[in-house]
Amino acid sequence: MKKILLSLCAAVMMLGAKADEGMWLPMLIGKNYEEMVRMGLKLSKEDVYNINHSSLKDAIVQFAGGCTAEMISSNGLLLTNHHCGYDAIATLSTVQNNYLDNGFWAHNMQEELPAQGVTVIFLQRMEDVTDEVIKEVGTTKGEEYTKKFDAIRKKIEDRETKGNKYMVASVKEYFNGNQYFLLVYKKYVDVRLVGTPPKSLGKFGGDTDNWMWPRHTSDFSMFRVYAGADNEPADYAAANVAYHPKKYLPVSIKGEQENDYAMIYGYPGRTNRYEVSYGVNLAINTINPSIVSIRDTRLAIMRRHMAQDKTVYLKLTSLSARIANYWKYFIGQTEQLKRLKIVDKKKKQEDKYVAWAADNNFDAGIMNKFAKIYQDVTPYAKHSVYYTECFRASALARIGASTEPLYKWLQKKETNADSLKKYVDGLKETRRTIMKEFDYGTEKDMMAEMTKMYYDEVPKVQQPDIYQKVIFAKYGKYNADKTYMDYTEYVFKNTFLVDSNKFNAFCTAPSVEKIDKDPACEYALSFVHNYTKNYQGKVETYNAEKKELSKQYVRGLMAWKEGKLFYPDANSTMRISYGKVLSYDPQDGVHYNYFTTLDGLMAKYKPGSDEFDVPQQLIDLYNAKDYGRYADADGSLHTCFITNNDITGGNSGSPVINANGELIGAAFDGNWEAMSGDIAFDKKYKRTIVCDVRFILFLIDKMGHAKNLIKEMDIRE
Ligand code: ARG
Repeated sequence: MKKILLSLCAAVMMLGAKADEGMWLPMLIGKNYEEMVRMGLKLSKEDVYNINHSSLKDAIVQFAGGCTAEMISSNGLLLTNHHCGYDAIATLSTVQNNYLDNGFWAHNMQEELPAQGVTVIFLQRMEDVTDEVIKEVGTTKGEEYTKKFDAIRKKIEDRETKGNKYMVASVKEYFNGNQYFLLVYKKYVDVRLVGTPPKSLGKFGGDTDNWMWPRHTSDFSMFRVYAGADNEPADYAAANVAYHPKKYLPVSIKGEQENDYAMIYGYPGRTNRYEVSYGVNLAINTINPSIVSIRDTRLAIMRRHMAQDKTVYLKLTSLSARIANYWKYFIGQTEQLKRLKIVDKKKKQEDKYVAWAADNNFDAGIMNKFAKIYQDVTPYAKHSVYYTECFRASALARIGASTEPLYKWLQKKETNADSLKKYVDGLKETRRTIMKEFDYGTEKDMMAEMTKMYYDEVPKVQQPDIYQKVIFAKYGKYNADKTYMDYTEYVFKNTFLVDSNKFNAFCTAPSVEKIDKDPACEYALSFVHNYTKNYQGKVETYNAEKKELSKQYVRGLMAWKEGKLFYPDANSTMRISYGKVLSYDPQDGVHYNYFTTLDGLMAKYKPGSDEFDVPQQLIDLYNAKDYGRYADADGSLHTCFITNNDITGGNSGSPVINANGELIGAAFDGNWEAMSGDIAFDKKYKRTIVCDVRFILFLIDKMGHAKNLIKEMDIRE
């Protein structure tokens, strides 16, 4: 074991062979450095990552749990994407003060708006803890592994944080569980909205342009990190002051050329690059089409209700944008997995691997084992997607399902008041979160339509008994739409989960009988119990075996490719990607330029459109060609550009940094032709879409008139 782990480290250190593909660990950037310099980087190794002194890593944060952001002034000014700030902006907006629609600019710090619940974390250090973890988990698998890993993980994390609520420690698996790192962060919790363009620009192109190039979106928003007087994290207080980061990025408005060096720091969420052909087949044939069709229906319901009422719109827009983003993602992923023949490519590689394994003391039967676990799980795969995506699309179903832990505890007839409080508080917290995005009218339709869809699509033998025992028994079977509507009406009228007074009354004296008698709990628990009793185990077995096989497979691949390109899958930890500004040919005979301009944005302008409208103020600036110093040497205002960096979801908001360590843009998307990228990186097609920092500054300066922010930044001309 030990030896293999040592050679794993060696593998990480030795790569250096290729840029563009790869999400590298900052701590191990070592040998990559020479390649980075060859490609144009002018910074020292220590500028890129240094544990003892400030380096680029200190300017980069994980934003609100799922995005990336960067410090762009000595006063904690933060840049991220519009779609990353979207939830906070929508939450701060009302029909009267609609920052989402109209944009918002603070012209001094007093005007900045506390974005409650938004936190950022700064990486302090990372450390290899493989030996310590392996000593505990040994060669265990499945549930036993999870239990042991959780225990040692928690022990290491607690040792680091020592109960300090502003410290975050996290032990993570790398290389599919062949190596473990501890990451230690400092968490700042007072974050305030500084500025955002109106949604028409921040989300310009909407779902139509999403995941596509050429693009003209100004997908950025700005916040500020606040600290106590000692510059340390502090809960929100009016008296808090701007945080002074160890490092912030200067901003270059010199403009980028094709082939210029481009480096991206950020927090890529999840990739599955070592997925096997069987997994790709299951995604193409079952999982992705199921997700897409459920989301089609779910989105149609939400949009119908959002269009009727601005308040409903503001309540649901963030959730609906998140659902739509990955609805289109799965359409694109499926299309590109097919077009790029990823199954065939993986199969070829797997055959070669098996031949190599047979000669090198690795398991040559591994692919047959993969085949078997996929064969075993396939009959339940669709159900498992419908359980999470369709049943749980309904907010009431989710609240109902979350009574399960309390229900189970109550059934044991224990009397410990602390335990009871723990379960009740858990339920209250889940409900509170769900209710933030709960609209009564939408949710009634959602439950009715999702209940119908589940019945129509999940194999009949796998259905929960609520259909026969309650729904059809009470409301008949022959007019399905009416049946589901009537049933939903009855559930909403009689449950204690929706109305706060009824819910609170339940919480003061919860009982098994009350849960049993509640129609929403009855509904949700019927699905939960059916799934957990009969199918969850099968899916968990598959997950556990897949995890173990993948671990062996990746270990084998690393031995096979020793000395060559190898990087671990994304896991929501900081990574560096380096590449260059680069155009591409999406198809035979078609060339895509590497940048877009305001002229192109105006060419897409559709007055009154939800996706392509443009505020009058920008039209006026465009007509006057009033671009100031943000114009390119070619006279136009560049809006977005592309690079061949390797990023994925979670990188949103990441700084794109030039050879001198200056910010040239905010990464915000990937391109259609490479939507299979999370499963297989395609060098020819894969691009990162970036909002040009000159477009950002132009909007702050000329539209937002926020000279205060322009002055605050270190702008390099
Ligand atoms: N596809 C982008 C990403 O996942 C998000 C773009 C948000 N814009 C939109 N129209 N939904 O990073």
